[in-house]
Amino acid sequence: MKIKNRVVEDLVFKSYLEEVMSNKKYLKMNRYIQHGNTTCLLHSIAVAYFSYRLCKLLKLRVHEKELIRGALLHDYFLYDWHAKYKPTKDLGLHGRIHPTIALFNARRDYDVNRIEADIISKHMFPLTFKPPKYKESVIICIMDKICSIYEVFSKKAYIEMAFKLADSKKERRIIARRINLYN
Ligand SMILES: [Fe+2]
Ligand SMILES: [Fe+2]
Repeated sequence: MKIKNRVVEDLVFKSYLEEVMSNKKYLKMNRYIQHGNTTCLLHSIAVAYFSYRLCKLLKLRVHEKELIRGALLHDYFLYDWHAKYKPTKDLGLHGRIHPTIALFNARRDYDVNRIEADIISKHMFPLTFKPPKYKESVIICIMDKICSIYEVFSKKAYIEMAFKLADSKKERRIIARRINLYN
């Protein structure tokens, strides 16, 4: 029964993921490294997936759709933050300003509700001074930090997670290509 539940939960997660990924602009996150060898795209999927799994494990009652979508879009800033001459270099510290840019981009390309907006704009707390307002935002704020530390120390982060989200060999190949798994 537990395994069946897990399969259903993964399908739910995938349906939200596919919806967000159906916008081609979202896949631009594949071009940029977040930490270590991990792209912004894979980082965002991992933060969303493990936050969702944690809620299931602890039986937390959360707005699942908002939790997943907010996490998928939390780093939707779309530039290489490691570059010396990044477009935002005059606006301030990346850690402080990228949640605002991610929210601007997310609102431009998706319908973003108040919980999703809070998740995106507060995920860098305490660097961004305002604390998260919803429990979904608190969970993403914490999971983002856990995933970021893991990525710094892992050469091939999240391979198991990515393949778990694939139903067939063909899909595994597509996912691997889309998230640059073999880079
Ligand atoms: Fe971030
Ligand atoms: Fe992040």
